[in-house]
Amino acid sequence: MINIDQIREDTPNCKDKLFFDSAGASLVPNLVSETISEYLEAESQIGGYKLASLRQEEISGFRTEAATLLNTHARNIVFMSSATSAFGAALSAIPFEKGDIILTSNNDYVSNFIQYIWLKKRFGVITKRINSLANGDLDTSHLEFLINEEQPKLVAISHIPTNSGLVQDVTAVGAICKKHNILYLVDACQSVGQLVVDVQEIQCDFLSTNGRKFLRGPRGTAMLYVADSILEKEYAPLIMDLHSTEWTSEDTIQLGPEANRFGLFETPVAFVLGFKAAITYANDVGMSNIQSYNTKLRERLTRNLGSIPGIRLLDKGTQRSNIITFIKEGVDKATHVEFLDKHDIYYSVSSRSSALIDFDKKDVEWAIRFSPHYYNTLEEMDRVSEILKTL
Ligand SMILES: Cc1ncc(COP(=O)(O)O)c(C=O)c1O
Repeated sequence: MINIDQIREDTPNCKDKLFFDSAGASLVPNLVSETISEYLEAESQIGGYKLASLRQEEISGFRTEAATLLNTHARNIVFMSSATSAFGAALSAIPFEKGDIILTSNNDYVSNFIQYIWLKKRFGVITKRINSLANGDLDTSHLEFLINEEQPKLVAISHIPTNSGLVQDVTAVGAICKKHNILYLVDACQSVGQLVVDVQEIQCDFLSTNGRKFLRGPRGTAMLYVADSILEKEYAPLIMDLHSTEWTSEDTIQLGPEANRFGLFETPVAFVLGFKAAITYANDVGMSNIQSYNTKLRERLTRNLGSIPGIRLLDKGTQRSNIITFIKEGVDKATHVEFLDKHDIYYSVSSRSSALIDFDKKDVEWAIRFSPHYYNTLEEMDRVSEILKTL
């Protein structure tokens, strides 16, 4: 059970509007903005280096708190500035050779596809896509087939895409990768903070996510999980610094033993602490409580929207998340935007350029994306649906 009154009290800015954009950038709990302001103020008094040395334990506690969230150890977590840089650091650590194969899904994040296309152009690394079933789920038997046919170097899957409510079965994929001893990278940017995400259960080698979405942290924050199996190998990203890696002779370096070998010394410390506060908040509320409450919000909203004539819900898949995409048939994008803005509803528009494969299959150029989260109420799910009846 969650205490919705307390949660709304901790997020007072959710009360005067209908805020459904946690898949974009969520509303942070007050604790997060207070933590950041307090630290910036203290930095302005004694300087960033002195303050960081005095508050070292509190700062490194970020990794412990994040490890609790993902069910791992502090040594396996590193702070990053965005989910894309976390994903890219993991990719750049894999010793790809010309002709190596990456397997991914039809629903992976646009920037991941951009990186694969560039890997092909520069290094001849080839990406192949695992089929989707008719209901939208990942076809895991096709994954097994491709693994046997292609012997890929890496399987990389987005847990939840940016542009639809589909939840891909990353645990089933993890079991298959483990069985065949294939490297496995999960983009969990849209799932961490809204679902229980457990890296032991998923059995991934890397997992990237950011702070500003369902985790309700500040912008410019993210993290990468790196499994011990990777840390034990000489795997490291292309960009490293003296923070975790030692320059041991003119021609040699010694990699650090922990995941911070994937990060850099310079970090926005106030925001690391703000991110830590957001993760602590989620851990305190409890991820399984958040997940069950979110399910209620989603079920109510999709039931309501599904009963409005002309509204087409676009999400597919056996398991769904709190990303709900839809259009009202026959109404153009500008009219949707003007209508939602007029009613003080906060949302995103997903466009075909960030979801080429999915949107072409659905035959849409864009979709309205609502992403309610656990500070929203069931009453809000009803209220927004009443409003949408008048679109
Ligand atoms: C599934 C997914 N992966 C990665 C990202 C990229 O996150 P960032 O902007 O922090 O790089 C996003 C952002 O929308 C996303 O939805």
